[in-house]
Amino acid sequence: MVVAYKHEPFTDFSVEANRLDYLNALQAVEGYLGQDYDLVIGGERITTEDKIVSYNPSNKREVIGHVSKANKELAEKAMQAAVQAFKTWKKVKPESRADILFKAAAIIRRRKHEFSALLTKEAGKPWKEADADTAEAIDFLEYYGRQMLLIKDGSPVQSRPNEFNRYDYIPLGVGIIISPWNFPFAIMAGTTVAAIVTGNTVLLKPASTTPVIAAKFVEVMEEAGLPKGVLNFVPGNGSEVGDYLVDHKDTRFISFTGSRDVGLRIFDRASKVRNGQIWIKRVIAEMGGKDTIVVDKEADLELAATSIVSSAFGFSGQKCSACSRAVIVEDVYDQVLERVVALTNELTQGDPTDYTNYMATVIDQNAYNKIMDYIEIGKQEGRLLTGGKGDDSIGYFIQPTVFADLSPEARIMKEEIFGPVVGFTKAKDFDHAIKIANNTEYGLTGAVITNNRGHIEKAREEFHVGNLYFNRGCTGAIVGYQPFGGFNMSGTDSKAGGPDYLLLHMQAKTSSEML
Ligand code: NAD
Ligand code: ALA
Repeated sequence: MVVAYKHEPFTDFSVEANRLDYLNALQAVEGYLGQDYDLVIGGERITTEDKIVSYNPSNKREVIGHVSKANKELAEKAMQAAVQAFKTWKKVKPESRADILFKAAAIIRRRKHEFSALLTKEAGKPWKEADADTAEAIDFLEYYGRQMLLIKDGSPVQSRPNEFNRYDYIPLGVGIIISPWNFPFAIMAGTTVAAIVTGNTVLLKPASTTPVIAAKFVEVMEEAGLPKGVLNFVPGNGSEVGDYLVDHKDTRFISFTGSRDVGLRIFDRASKVRNGQIWIKRVIAEMGGKDTIVVDKEADLELAATSIVSSAFGFSGQKCSACSRAVIVEDVYDQVLERVVALTNELTQGDPTDYTNYMATVIDQNAYNKIMDYIEIGKQEGRLLTGGKGDDSIGYFIQPTVFADLSPEARIMKEEIFGPVVGFTKAKDFDHAIKIANNTEYGLTGAVITNNRGHIEKAREEFHVGNLYFNRGCTGAIVGYQPFGGFNMSGTDSKAGGPDYLLLHMQAKTSSEML
């Protein structure tokens, strides 16, 4: 009997014992910094000369680990291992597959702070953000394990007299899992185990800035009893290994989370039928966002300001769900803006190993340069009210930055910046605000702060985003409670952590027997 799913609670760091545990975990992680990590292909560990070096973004001289790097030959070897393993893994009972997820969740829960501390080091996540990432990884394991138990016998269909009809879900084959660095544990683990628990075998290519947490996760899955060849670990260049695997004739599906441009490239390449390929590849693509918080004139303005600040600057705005636009009805624009600037000025920033720092860095030099370029654009397009400065001498620090008085058509109001920058624009009334909120090519998250019931219903109908929130911020979806995924250029609306997600990794088979 499996107990009902409930999401993993977040750690209360106001409790001293929890803070001490986290500090001990940071020390444990420091004890293994700089180690080497292998590829894992068919259960075999393979070391390559060529390595990905993972650095601490808040102290760029600190090496987190050296990770072996797959090339095309090794990617091919991994593909063959996955093709072989699929022949047996697809026949393993769904209950046994789910058990491996539950065991993995238990292993991670026991070492929870260690994984979070590694995220603090490798991704620059402040404690609270790292803790939430690890909790979400556990949630995906617990939730998808249970979902598999629900769908293992298929769905009911009608049968006529003397007829026995069944409708079963069977796995697809070999999947390529391509994950981002911003939820380097939760999204990497969630997309991997959804594919595995449904009976597929996978090649996991993590983001090159955060490969060590992925290597640690592969070890957990081995410890939990996953057979060899089911999960093959192939870090490598997106353009080399990524393209090779996306193009491969034996690839049955691709589960990608990342930027719009890479997602579209994968979608395009996957649509071409290669020599010997006998199926249409399926692509699950969760991509970028340009997420808006709308504030109505009848609203709790303090709630509006705190929601904007936490959604814009949590993890330095590096969430696909982050609030990068605030659209405020003109009657309350000045009040909300003033309060947001005041709250932003109170934020603490620095090394994320220090619990008192709310914010740390952005992920790497490329991100730093790109965000600083957008800040320059913002200075031309609007009024800089606070922040705007960066310092990449030790780590990639960028101040939380607020721009006001932007046109809804400004570049910084329409393009994904993926950093600690929020732009404000004024709307004439609520209808105008919703119109502005819908004016990008994305459609991932959004929030509306209002006490007007009619406006809530209007937004529910007209604000075109996959995750819409009322009277709260627009980040922090919980697995099994707020399934997550977006519309338009935000992706295929696959709704990670939702009741339909596993079915994306399966195909339905009808059988009809005459009695
Ligand atoms: P990215 O697109 O640069 O990289 C994502 C992954 O794709 C990485 O593993 C990368 O190595 C790989 N890749 C790069 N080129 C490739 C290629 N040619 N073929 C195959 N794989 C390739 O994204 P990122 O910078 O890691 O992550 C940030 C982006 O992800 C943002 O746009 C953010 O909005 C988005 N994101 C979306 C969601 C969501 O659920 N919608 C969640 C998290 C992040
Ligand atoms: N699931 C993450 C959030 O909602 C991306 O913030």
